[in-house]
Amino acid sequence: MSSALQQKIEQVKEVLANAMRDFSPVTFANSLGAEDMVLTDLIAKYQPDIAIFSLDTGRLPQETYDLMQEVRNHYTVPLTVYFPDSARIEAYVAQHGVNGFYDSVENRKACCYMRKVEPLKRALSGKRAWITGMRRDQAVTRGSLEVSSFDADHGLQKFNPLLDWTNAEVWEYLRSYNAPYNKLHDRFYPSIGCAPCTRAVTPGEDIRSGRWWWESAEGKECGLHVGKISQLK
Ligand code: ADX
Ligand code: SF4
Repeated sequence: MSSALQQKIEQVKEVLANAMRDFSPVTFANSLGAEDMVLTDLIAKYQPDIAIFSLDTGRLPQETYDLMQEVRNHYTVPLTVYFPDSARIEAYVAQHGVNGFYDSVENRKACCYMRKVEPLKRALSGKRAWITGMRRDQAVTRGSLEVSSFDADHGLQKFNPLLDWTNAEVWEYLRSYNAPYNKLHDRFYPSIGCAPCTRAVTPGEDIRSGRWWWESAEGKECGLHVGKISQLK
């Protein structure tokens, strides 16, 4: 492993330790993407008291569910799963249809809101900080993020410990430690969300180009990281 990566790992361990020292209780939002598997591995090894949760939108790819199960077998730290409110989903489906999110950006954001943002609020309630696996170079919307900042939208501190990691470093870590990862990454899915809103990319394409591929890059956030997009209803 390169010494540059070793140094970055030490920095992440320090960020996690500081978060626990200053903002306990802390929770980690785990999408089961490659970055989040690095954080899962580091949290399991060094800060097992950080709670870990995933938002199950009900529309995740089979490979993501397989990985959820693998995490349960591989690590002793529990992964708590949050589901959307069934009454909201039923009302949305009645009004727009089960795949109504393809019809307009507004419908897409409303779907992300009920399947991710509302459950996120429940997952964050009672916590003083949350951790994400976002990296700066993932998207035009993520250039100005900070490692630690106050998240005014959710009212708690937010940490992005992998902010300055490269994609290559993420993979160097996962391979060095033989950590579990989503098998879709082997099939040209660099960024994975819900199955109907994620597709494979061709070599050289932007890593998030397979997410909501029918929308423009500037608006492609799901609402979990609200400060970076226009306010959702
Ligand atoms: S998204 O906003 O486009 O969906 P992305 O997939 O890049 O985001 O993930 C960014 C971060 O948001 C992840 O590292 C993770 O912390 C959090 N996140 C995204 N989706 C989920 C999910 N389904 N469950 C838990 N956390 C998630
Ligand atoms: Fe709905 Fe697609 Fe958003 Fe998933 S990514 S919550 S299916 S609009």
